[in-house]
Amino acid sequence: MTAPRSNSLPARVRADVAHNARVWNYWLGGKDHFPVDRTVGDQVTGMYPSIGEVARADRAFLGRAVRHLAGDAGIGQFLDIGTGLPTADNTHEVAQHTAPDARVVYVDNDPIVLAHARSLLTSSPEGATEYIDADARHPDRILRAAQPTLDLERPVAVMLLGILNFVLDTDEALRIVRQLMAAVPSGSYLVLTHPTLELGGEGNEAAMRFWNENATPPITARGRFEFAAFLDGLDILDPGIVSCARWRPGPGPAGAEVAQFGAVARKP
Ligand SMILES: C[S@@+](CC[C@H](N)C(=O)[O-])C[C@H]1O[C@@H](n2cnc3c(N)ncnc32)[C@H](O)[C@@H]1O
Repeated sequence: MTAPRSNSLPARVRADVAHNARVWNYWLGGKDHFPVDRTVGDQVTGMYPSIGEVARADRAFLGRAVRHLAGDAGIGQFLDIGTGLPTADNTHEVAQHTAPDARVVYVDNDPIVLAHARSLLTSSPEGATEYIDADARHPDRILRAAQPTLDLERPVAVMLLGILNFVLDTDEALRIVRQLMAAVPSGSYLVLTHPTLELGGEGNEAAMRFWNENATPPITARGRFEFAAFLDGLDILDPGIVSCARWRPGPGPAGAEVAQFGAVARKP
């Protein structure tokens, strides 16, 4: 997309500052981004060439995790926080392919995601999808708004893919996870991805610094120890905490390891 004149945009959209949802869409090969997103996206790629691979591996992980949960694990409800712009294989499409009656609530706080949310509301007739424009820092508000669509007495897969990295304070990020997981019953799941400077991600440090000076929202990386703390008290599924590219890869050669942790864990 070219940068629209500001009077044609929802008031909260900034076309002059790169936004994560739009740059992520650019890295994924989508078309919902402005010149400033492409410029910053290309500069980050110049500093950290595997970022496009990270984005694709994260989406592929989402597909494998949701297929497993909707299939073998029998999960029929998904709360996908930090959804991103609609792309190929959105959560409800993957889940409803396996379980047509799956119910999915999407949450993001980017006004461009809100503007495109209608593409996420294409549920199967047996299932349901809903979109909530909210900040992940307010789990109570999100849980309240999700309740007409999700039955919180029944297991839910809480998905936080590539989003806790935008909650810079680790205690606050932990509080968000704990509040969400406390609100769902035993048999629910937590699905997480998070960028790291481990797993060969050392080159990402300068790129993240550049991001924080030139784009929004600011980002942080976390190590294995901090990532593991998000999963405290949950049973982590095999193969544990790994590069998201290595989480139950399909048949054929495994994709290259990327510097993004991924894990799926069940609430006992
Ligand atoms: C890296 S993208 C990940 C998108 C998708 N989950 C995926 O894995 O492909 C992060 C998304 O989180 C959203 N986000 C960032 N901070 C947020 C916050 N505080 N509350 C809600 N959404 C947020 C961004 O707008 C963006 O769409």
